[in-house]
Amino acid sequence: MSVTAVCPGSFDPVTNGHLDVIERAATRFDQVLVACTRNIGKSPLFTVEERVALVERVTAHLPNVAVESFEGLLVDFCRDRGVGVVVKGLRAVSDFEYELQMAQMNSRIGDVETMFMTTSPVYSFLSSSLVKEVARFGGDISDFVPAAVADELRSRLGDG
Ligand code: PNS
Repeated sequence: MSVTAVCPGSFDPVTNGHLDVIERAATRFDQVLVACTRNIGKSPLFTVEERVALVERVTAHLPNVAVESFEGLLVDFCRDRGVGVVVKGLRAVSDFEYELQMAQMNSRIGDVETMFMTTSPVYSFLSSSLVKEVARFGGDISDFVPAAVADELRSRLGDG
């Protein structure tokens, strides 16, 4: 039986921390479907089409990874594709409370199990928001995001 996992997120933009979780999920599941939410509460820097395109570029080396956008509930996206496993990265204890709440809600309103993958310690402090802030003020982001993402961030926010 082939098992697909969904890796959901905002990916505004995708970081090396996201990529690490996606790469590791791709070694444990037959297929990984990265799901970029269209609706972000805060106004996104990148449109959903741009976010999907960036995730596609940085996962191009992973043959069993596909990327899609979604609107609405994650459980509906999973149901429509027949996927019952969601994989999320946990950076620190501070992530846990909200992630636990979402996992339990998703299990209650849909037929999905959430599996948590601990983030590699080298990426435990990383977030898309912080990377954008560092880029906005001209800081070096090259260790935090893939080169293609760094170029986009610099041209949009920084010295590009
Ligand atoms: O990158 P993020 O912000 O951690 O991703 C959060 C995301 C997109 C996974 C979450 O907000 C989500 O699933 N949104 C879709 C709407 C939904 O299903 N909400 C109910 C969650 S219990």
